[in-house]
Amino acid sequence: MEVDTILSKYPRSKDYLLEILHDIQNHHPQNYIPAEAVQKVAGHLNIKRAQVYGVIGYYSMFSIKPRGKYVIRVCASPICNMMGSCNLLDFLKQKLGVELGKTTADGLFTLETTECLGNCAAAPAMMINQEMFGNLTPGMIESLLEHYSNKSK
Ligand code: FES
Repeated sequence: MEVDTILSKYPRSKDYLLEILHDIQNHHPQNYIPAEAVQKVAGHLNIKRAQVYGVIGYYSMFSIKPRGKYVIRVCASPICNMMGSCNLLDFLKQKLGVELGKTTADGLFTLETTECLGNCAAAPAMMINQEMFGNLTPGMIESLLEHYSNKSK
């Protein structure tokens, strides 16, 4: 969806800044917020670009760099850590053949860590784009990677 189309859905109030940024990033095939979009958002809300970048920089889920079609965010907060998220992260690095913060050569997956996802009762947890997964095991991760790879074929 075009940025202009997204912006046309929102009133010109900075109360909507977060929602707008989510919307733009979620609709971008490379899961990020390009500089031209920041410019348009600032214009729409009549605020400075620096304010938009400030919000993007504050929240780890936003990116100003192109990422994979699917962004995997593994929780690295204490509870998930205790429940083995470090090992799962190593497993993901090995399966995907990428380091943290990198995207697979086919452009499908980007691997990131995140602060607590609010899903501690199901630790270890992670998100793939907007979907939450908990009680993860290497087997589950393998199935999820397969599922998402097939989904994009
Ligand atoms: S510590 Fe991982 S979801 Fe809360």
